[in-house]
Formats: sequence, C-alpha cells, structure tokens
Amino acid sequence: MAEHVFSVNGTQVTCHTAGAGSPLVLIHGFPFDHTMWQPQIDALSSVCQVIAPDLRGYGGSTLGDADASEGIDMAIYAADVAGVLDNLQVSEPVILCGFSMGGYILWQYALKHPEQVKALILCDTRAAADSAEAAAGRIKMADSIATTGVEPVVEGMVPKLLATDTLENRPEIVATVQAMIRDASPAAIAASQRGMARREDVQGKLGTFEWPSLVLVGAEDVISTPEEMRAIADALPNGQFHEIASAGHMTVLENPAAVDEALLAFVDRVT
Ligand code: MLT
Repeated sequence: MAEHVFSVNGTQVTCHTAGAGSPLVLIHGFPFDHTMWQPQIDALSSVCQVIAPDLRGYGGSTLGDADASEGIDMAIYAADVAGVLDNLQVSEPVILCGFSMGGYILWQYALKHPEQVKALILCDTRAAADSAEAAAGRIKMADSIATTGVEPVVEGMVPKLLATDTLENRPEIVATVQAMIRDASPAAIAASQRGMARREDVQGKLGTFEWPSLVLVGAEDVISTPEEMRAIADALPNGQFHEIASAGHMTVLENPAAVDEALLAFVDRVT
C-alpha cells in the first residue's frame, strides 16, 4: 500500500492506495479512518485501484483551524475527496463506496461530480437527515468533548455499533472498535458532529442517482436499519439490496468475508 499526503482545501489529506485497475474510493465512517477498511483494501486491491483517504482530522489528515468550532459540511469532505482524486490524477469515473458518514459524503460527491461517478456502494448509511433530537445530541457532544474527552463517545457508540453477539462473544472486535474511537481526536469528532447535524436530507433526490448501486447493511444494524436501507435501494433507479448476516453497523469488521464477497461481485458486474 502506498501513502500519499496532499495539500487539499487548506488541509493536509493523507490517502492510501493499493492495486491497479478501475479506481474505487473507500470513504470511512465516523469517527474512524482508512484502517477500518483494511479487509476490503486487501480483497479489492486484487481487482481495482483502491483509494482510501483519511478524512480531514482523522488518521494522518489534519483539520482546518475553524473546523472544530464551525463544523465540516459533508460537501467539504466531498470536496476533499475530489481534491485527492485530482492529486492522484484519476480522470476516469470512480466506484464510490461510503460507510455511514462516508455515505453522507458520497451523496454530496455524486451530486457535485456526476460525471466522475461510475457506480455507488452504500454501506450502513442513511439518506435522511437527523431528527431535531438527534441533531441536538450531536451538538451537545461537539460542545462538551473538549472537556470530556472521547471516553463518553466510546461508551455511547460501541453498544450501537455492534451486533449483540459481537458485543457478547467477540471481545477482539469490541476492543478494535473501542481503540479506533479512542484514536480519534476530540476536535475531529466535534467537527464531524456539527456537520452531520446539519447534513442534507437527500431522500427526495435518490431517483436521480441512476448509477448501478449496491446497498449493503448489517442484519442487526440499529443506526442505519435494514428497513431504512431497503427503502434507499428501492428508491434508487438501479439499487441492489444486500443484507450481511452476523453483523450490526460495523459490517466491514464484523463480517468482512461476506462484505468482501458482495463488493467483489458488484465490482465485477460494473467493471
Ligand atoms: C458512522 O458510523 O459514520 C456514524 O454512525 C454516522 C452517524 O453518526 O450518523
């Protein structure tokens, strides 16, 4: 895997690439970095050029000065992804794969750069905006995290991120997810939460996303539920729904073999 660092939109964005062939961009979720995709990077780099950026503030990427206080709109993260692709001189349309917050970013990228998109993969994500209550919870976290640190985020998120069986019987996955959240910077978390709280509701636009689309969800996902994701697949003109067994929200870590199989079959179909 090669590491690149690019100056993009006033920040330093780190990106990892592996393999050759059709470009496929993996956009990670909140509050993680590209390492959440390691099983998929390993599997997909045999058939694609995998491009896995760290979103600003996460992993090896820096945050802009005002990001923590003002928040980062999903369109800004999408512009950073576009900047990475420019720097890598990727000119052909890409397969975009977004996990959860990465999916919110994917919608914005596809709306802004439709000519740059070949196909979409939506993993455990949503098209709806937050309820007022959920948005208020995010702002509360953003306002308090500088003093509380990340531990309340670990305690609040982990039970929702993983399936019951994972929580009870797979301590290594619980530990991995806890460690990934503990690695995230409080400022990056505040910035994302403010941006997600005001993100666009794209449900009414799904009919315009005409690309071949794979909609993938863990059978026990309580954040972006199978019911909600099936509705996304139904609203997309070329949406294909795929449920991943034995997984909650963190499908990519809880059942990587099933995720990789679904992704490889989809990539084979669209390339
Ligand atoms: C994620 O995994 O990216 C988050 O659950 C997204 C969110 O908080 O809505």
